[in-house]
Amino acid sequence: MSCYMAAALLLLHGSLFTGPVQARFGSDISTDNADNRFANMGQVTVKQWAVVDGEVDLKLNVEDTPGELEAWILDFQPYMHNDDQQWPVEDGWLWSNQTGECSSVHTSAEFYTFLNDTGFQSLSGTGGKNLFNSYTRGTLGNASRRADEVAYSGPLKTLLDCKSQGSNESVWNMTSTEDEVEFRTRLYVINVRPKDYYRPQKGVSFVQSHIDLIWRLYRTALARVILSSSGLLRPVFEYAIVSTVYDVNGDPDWSKARLDLRFITITDSDVQMSVYVNASANYTAQNPANGLREVVSAPPVQPEQTPACQLIPHYIDGGLQCHQVWDFTFLLDIDTTSLVDGQPIDATGDFSFMYDSYTCAVTNGNVNRTLCTKDAVPATKVSAEITIQTTVELTDAEADEITLHLHRMVGSDNEDVSVNGRRGVAHLENVTVEVKFSPAFLRQDYQLELTLFMVCIGNVTEHPAGCLVADPDDRYVAWKEPHLVFEYNGTTWRHGDFLSDYEQPLYWQGYVHESAENPTPVHRSQFTNLALSAQSAQYTITTVFYLVAKEGRRRRALPARQIIMNKVLEPENVQPAETGLAFSRTRRDIMDTIDEPKSFVTGFSFSGCPEVAKYNPYRRTCECPDKMVYNSLTFTCEELELPGSGGGSSGTPDIGASYALLLLSCLLQLLHW
Ligand SMILES: *[C@@H]1O[C@H](CO)[C@@H](O)[C@H](O)[C@H]1NC(C)=O
Ligand SMILES: *[C@@H]1O[C@H](CO)[C@@H](O)[C@H](O)[C@H]1NC(C)=O
Ligand SMILES: *[C@@H]1O[C@H](CO)[C@@H](O)[C@H](O)[C@H]1NC(C)=O
Ligand SMILES: *[C@@H]1O[C@H](CO)[C@@H](O)[C@H](O)[C@H]1NC(C)=O
Ligand SMILES: *[C@@H]1O[C@H](CO)[C@@H](O)[C@H](O)[C@H]1NC(C)=O
Ligand SMILES: *[C@@H]1O[C@H](CO)[C@@H](O)[C@H](O)[C@H]1NC(C)=O
Ligand SMILES: *[C@@H]1O[C@H](CO)[C@@H](O)[C@H](O)[C@H]1NC(C)=O
Ligand SMILES: *[C@@H]1O[C@H](CO)[C@@H](O)[C@H](O)[C@H]1NC(C)=O
Ligand SMILES: *[C@@H]1O[C@H](CO)[C@@H](O)[C@H](O)[C@H]1NC(C)=O
Ligand SMILES: *[C@@H]1O[C@H](CO)[C@@H](O)[C@H](O)[C@H]1NC(C)=O
Ligand SMILES: *[C@@H]1O[C@H](CO)[C@@H](O)[C@H](O)[C@H]1NC(C)=O
Repeated sequence: MSCYMAAALLLLHGSLFTGPVQARFGSDISTDNADNRFANMGQVTVKQWAVVDGEVDLKLNVEDTPGELEAWILDFQPYMHNDDQQWPVEDGWLWSNQTGECSSVHTSAEFYTFLNDTGFQSLSGTGGKNLFNSYTRGTLGNASRRADEVAYSGPLKTLLDCKSQGSNESVWNMTSTEDEVEFRTRLYVINVRPKDYYRPQKGVSFVQSHIDLIWRLYRTALARVILSSSGLLRPVFEYAIVSTVYDVNGDPDWSKARLDLRFITITDSDVQMSVYVNASANYTAQNPANGLREVVSAPPVQPEQTPACQLIPHYIDGGLQCHQVWDFTFLLDIDTTSLVDGQPIDATGDFSFMYDSYTCAVTNGNVNRTLCTKDAVPATKVSAEITIQTTVELTDAEADEITLHLHRMVGSDNEDVSVNGRRGVAHLENVTVEVKFSPAFLRQDYQLELTLFMVCIGNVTEHPAGCLVADPDDRYVAWKEPHLVFEYNGTTWRHGDFLSDYEQPLYWQGYVHESAENPTPVHRSQFTNLALSAQSAQYTITTVFYLVAKEGRRRRALPARQIIMNKVLEPENVQPAETGLAFSRTRRDIMDTIDEPKSFVTGFSFSGCPEVAKYNPYRRTCECPDKMVYNSLTFTCEELELPGSGGGSSGTPDIGASYALLLLSCLLQLLHW
């Protein structure tokens, strides 16, 4: 039986791809079981699938073969979609009511009418259906097939609201993670031909294929800057996590976003602490269509319940400071009416919080929150500028790609230093770069492995090979793996190509798995920035990653390839006979590129050497004048007070120490596994 089917398959394969063969209408399945009825058939492809200003534009190119008696059915359910045997073609009729509400069968008619070459006519409006609202008959010209067009343009909601026939079940599957929501649907494209032209009620044959449409939305929150109105209180940013809000039906509500915000306030005192002023949280959005809907949670406002002081010695003078951790959760209104796929839309706004200062007694070496009195000073305002970036990506399964995104890039104070950030990065400042990948469903089985990390001067962020094409004098290498192979536009780069590059090793790198604190798994690299110029300038970071299977996880089975079914329906005979199965036309899918290295390029700005310093291009350092040292905590040249103190004679990074740390971090990583 299986051999027999394989033979049929081969024949079907052969006949479909060896050019047009004389079609024989009305002929039954031949003795060798080869069904030639579909030998000369066009296909349905996606011509356009985009969102512009919140409106969907979906255009399908439907190839009609002149001289063939055929009808195309575009539906979000398979031809044999239910058990009631109520399929689209029955008793010589094409029944609109037996297709889904979003199908292309906008009217019922005698099947003969549809089969004819004149069957497909231009129409605007949806007919009796809900979705496709434009049908355009193509012209034949010199082509062998007519390119008809079936299209939908309108609100995304209409498309997302499509249901299967006679049910309330959405045709879309949704999967969501903290930062990404993915919708997927399968549009079946079915070519139907009569089994016996003269007796259409005798049944039809069909060839069914499909197009998987994918729609993803990513959100990222970036903390631009955090400020305090008073010198007494210094805020330090911890994180901003944006996540999806769902409505009562469990569907994502695009018009809202949840934001979890954490920052620390620092007071240079071991007796003073801060207390949040009740109901003082406020949000002012740059775009008035965005706004604060609800403060979901805020800290208690009584001194006894306020976050406790953690007394931490100051890193410069060793004096005790009170560190308090503040958590807020907001529900925001987000305007998505101007969405354009592939382009992030920014909702930027300022959050502000008021704090009262209290002086407390110290008992047993701790700030005692039950023994506090309010200070007679005005309340301090802490304000944070946060950007919530929303990006939608529309694709189909064949065009789908693995993409890398910047999750976070922060300087030593946890503030954003990505290209859009407010401040530059100093010489010898430690920078943390977090990169995530999409689609998120692959994160279950794969993680990122870093094979190259480079920094160069200039803005080459638009170039996929970024710093790889920069002059070696204008860059340094922070990470390179022996197995690196990266190809772009005919040029291949390998580990050996960077042997003579200046090195400034990353001081930590690794994959940070999902946890309560890190809902989005990311690859984290931490590098110490070196000067590639005396002046402030645009710098580029170029990284190359591989996706590798997670430890202890078997690879996800490859998703099923396209299956074309050719079923011959015999109304008299309830059991449909299958004449062909799983015909494997090689289609590209996302798993085909999983082993390829992927580059990720981003930028930041360097704030320049201190004015008094001299730039040394060979050592990529800012060199302070005699009797001064570069302080890598304040990023300035400071008077050398005591000879031998200050930890170094210039800003030269200690590469030996970095290697030791690297080794340590690798060991830690191993222990972690
Ligand atoms: C569709 O309409 C035809 C003709 O009115 C009817 O026979 C058939 O039962 C209908 N199918 C469904 C699923 O309602
Ligand atoms: C197909 O169309 C042609 C031309 O419009 C017409 O003459 C013919 O009768 C049609 N055939 C059927 C079966 O309706
Ligand atoms: C078909 O017509 C197009 C323009 O209409 C032309 O560019 C193309 O070369 C033609 N193809 C053939 C095979 O004549
Ligand atoms: C679908 O939902 C509507 C309202 O939610 C309900 O009135 C209707 O009965 C449901 N239909 C089915 C087939 O479940
Ligand atoms: C939707 O999910 C169901 C159940 O997991 C699955 O059988 C179906 O293939 C999915 N459809 C698409 C288009 O991914
Ligand atoms: C905080 O403010 C809200 C709204 O103004 C009020 O309902 C609530 O009672 C206040 N809580 C305290 C502890 O003062
Ligand atoms: C919040 O800010 C707006 C202006 O952006 C201001 O009108 C409003 O009074 C503020 N609310 C509070 C509670 O501070
Ligand atoms: C704080 O002070 C109160 C009152 O003096 C005392 O009962 C309590 O034990 C103190 N708490 C701590 C943690 O020392
Ligand atoms: C870098 O160049 C790209 C285009 O080449 C531009 O869009 C981007 O704004 C530039 N970045 C900066 C920070 O100048
Ligand atoms: C690819 O390489 C060719 C030849 O080396 C060059 O002319 C072309 O500009 C390159 N294209 C890109 C996009 O870099
Ligand atoms: C930056 O990282 C290096 C290596 O871990 C470390 O020695 C140095 O203290 C860090 N600098 C700051 C300001 O944290």
